[in-house]
Amino acid sequence: MLGLGHEVTVLESFYFHQNSLLDCCQYEKFQVVRGDSRDEAPMKTLAAKADLMIPLAALVGVPSCNLDAIATQTTNQDAIEMLCRLASRDQRVILPVTNSGCGIGEKGQPCTGR
Ligand SMILES: NC(=O)c1ccc[n+]([C@@H]2O[C@H](COP(=O)([O-])OP(=O)(O)OC[C@H]3O[C@@H](n4cnc5c(N)ncnc54)[C@H](O)[C@@H]3O)[C@@H](O)[C@H]2O)c1
Repeated sequence: MLGLGHEVTVLESFYFHQNSLLDCCQYEKFQVVRGDSRDEAPMKTLAAKADLMIPLAALVGVPSCNLDAIATQTTNQDAIEMLCRLASRDQRVILPVTNSGCGIGEKGQPCTGR
């Protein structure tokens, strides 16, 4: 998206002290905000400026999710529901989903781990 010239703002908690956004810093239209996707006030401010929102803040993988069920529920579901509530009819929310979200990779077997 940055390569296509779009403005991109990322909200990231940096809980894991990662530097995976470093490549994006070369783009003038890139902004990063340190924060928590579960905090409604900053999310409301950011959401008001966006044409498109892609909720990627998540605790990923069943072993990680099992370590903190509340954090998993509030991050992976509640925060995304809040974002959808904050979005106006003119905005779009795109939610990328792997089989972690819709199944366990076996036909007819839903994923029950959080
Ligand atoms: N990686 C893939 O190929 C892929 C494909 C499709 C969908 N997804 C989905 O995209 C989402 C992210 O996956 P990923 O592989 O990028 O995971 P990831 O662990 O690399 O990234 C998740 C990021 O969310 C941040 N984070 C966690 N809790 C937060 C919070 N409360 N507030 C702000 N930031 C927070 C973490 O610091 C981390 O940088 C997941 O929902 C996953 O199911 C991933």
